[in-house]
Amino acid sequence: MSLSLEKIINAKLAEVFNSLQLNPQYAVVKVSDRPDLSDFQCNGALALAKSEKKNPREIATQIAAKLQEDPDFSKISVDGPGFLNLSINNTLIAKVLDAMSEDERFGCEKVSNPHKIVLDSGGPNVAKALHVGHLRSAAIGESIRRIEIFAGNEVISDVHFGDWGTPMGMILAEIIKQDGDLSKTESYDINDISAFYKKANIRCKEDETAKETARLITADLQNGNPEYRKAWQHLRKVSVDAVKKNYDELQAHFDLWLGESDAHETCAEIVKLAAQKGVSEVDDGATIIRLEETNKPKPPVILVKSDGGYAYQVTDIATIKMRVDDLKAQEIIYVVDKRQSLHFEQVFEVAEKLGIAPNVTLRHIGFGTVNGPDGKPFKTRDGGVMNLEDLLKLSKDKVRESMPQAGEVEGYGEKEIEKLVSQIAIGAIKYQDLKNNIASGYVFEVDDFAKFDGKTGPYIQYAIARINSILRKAGDIKPGKVIISNAEERDLALKLMQLSNIIMRTQEAKEPSIISDYAYTLAQTFSSFYNTSPIMSAESQELASSRLQLAKLVRDVLTLLLYLLGIEAPEVMLKKAE
Ligand code: ARG
Repeated sequence: MSLSLEKIINAKLAEVFNSLQLNPQYAVVKVSDRPDLSDFQCNGALALAKSEKKNPREIATQIAAKLQEDPDFSKISVDGPGFLNLSINNTLIAKVLDAMSEDERFGCEKVSNPHKIVLDSGGPNVAKALHVGHLRSAAIGESIRRIEIFAGNEVISDVHFGDWGTPMGMILAEIIKQDGDLSKTESYDINDISAFYKKANIRCKEDETAKETARLITADLQNGNPEYRKAWQHLRKVSVDAVKKNYDELQAHFDLWLGESDAHETCAEIVKLAAQKGVSEVDDGATIIRLEETNKPKPPVILVKSDGGYAYQVTDIATIKMRVDDLKAQEIIYVVDKRQSLHFEQVFEVAEKLGIAPNVTLRHIGFGTVNGPDGKPFKTRDGGVMNLEDLLKLSKDKVRESMPQAGEVEGYGEKEIEKLVSQIAIGAIKYQDLKNNIASGYVFEVDDFAKFDGKTGPYIQYAIARINSILRKAGDIKPGKVIISNAEERDLALKLMQLSNIIMRTQEAKEPSIISDYAYTLAQTFSSFYNTSPIMSAESQELASSRLQLAKLVRDVLTLLLYLLGIEAPEVMLKKAE
């Protein structure tokens, strides 16, 4: 039995449609917009009216008459021009919930076409500290990774390190400028390297010759100059190590730590292939591919710059080829700032022209920026770039304010409190990021994002911890068969049964905010249930067991939802005594 209530009803409807010789394609329900009137609504009769040459009310009435025979419906009515309103019998609800509680996937379906996805997210760069923009790519990417895997797809995540562009030459040039040569490079740590990069950035902005030198060094590095390569290896390693620590803390997992540089050899193949196919041309010393302009200007793609170096775009094109040939990707998803939309449009178009990714879905999920209260990109208090570490610190400080001191609660010393602070702080940051529509960007809610009430990560973590405590205190009463005895239980049950659909919708739309919304309303629905339906003092033991089962299911489902958002659910939540 499918455990999605919608699917169960659709199947019943399809049977009736078939028996009436109506096209079963229209035998679909949606959750009712008017929960006071019905649980589900089917608008199929309206869609069929034309082809059937009948009044939609008449069709709906025919369907309703057949459905009346099915004891799983408690109420069937035809309303307005021909809407079919359906309510479900409590027995069916209870039966589905029992089955959900017994299933380790809570009745969640899997995709019908499991395939292999390469997920490109993270996108950090050598010598640059992660900033608030990188948070989005890591948070969204990790959530999508977990959702796709849960839905039955295979995912290989690749951080795609930015390690091959002009910044490399800029840093090397700066070190040479200050030290005279590269002999000391291997003694430099991430702070030194970042400082060199910052200086190089300023210098190259002011000084054309410095810029030119950096460009030439980059081309030399790419062409294999051994001294440059050796120094660059060190810059890369130190940067990867630093960034790994950040991602570990954020619990963003990457299967591969490849970078733009890994595509170097394949770039040459791409250039050759483009020439063979006759799609490239040499323009002012550079090798380019012109693209057709449809409704907006589309600049040509540069494969090789006039100095012989490879540009950002060709590394991405070559990387597609590698992901298809070596990793056998059937879909490649890029979680990258939406300001790079044009870049991906161009890259995907060239991939198509060159035929390097036949039947492979190429998808750019472009996210908007994280803004400060002024609506401009989020900055530190003194106006600097908000680094990821600053942000984590800000979040932890905020959470710590509402925590008891180490030693105040039994079993919670400094270490335990700090672990909890970190779980809550990261949950708060990630939930705030993922509750917003990906493309639209959002204003960082400095005062509210870590609150224990409202639409926040900690609110949901708190709901889970509260149910844990209910289950601990239940003593001899064990979760048992579900009985629907009042409206709040019924609402909660109907909400829980949306799970499979919600996850499938999120997977299809690649929009974790659907899960965030659902987790929030589920936690709220649980609250209303718990306020009206006592567990320990329920009228009967059976009812107590049933309510405990509902509570446990809510806890397990919320834990799964947080997991899919990349957020941990601590067993216990602490709050400072008021
Ligand atoms: N490192 C790049 C940047 O900071 C982002 C990389 C995104 N991924 C890609 N395949 N281009 O802009």
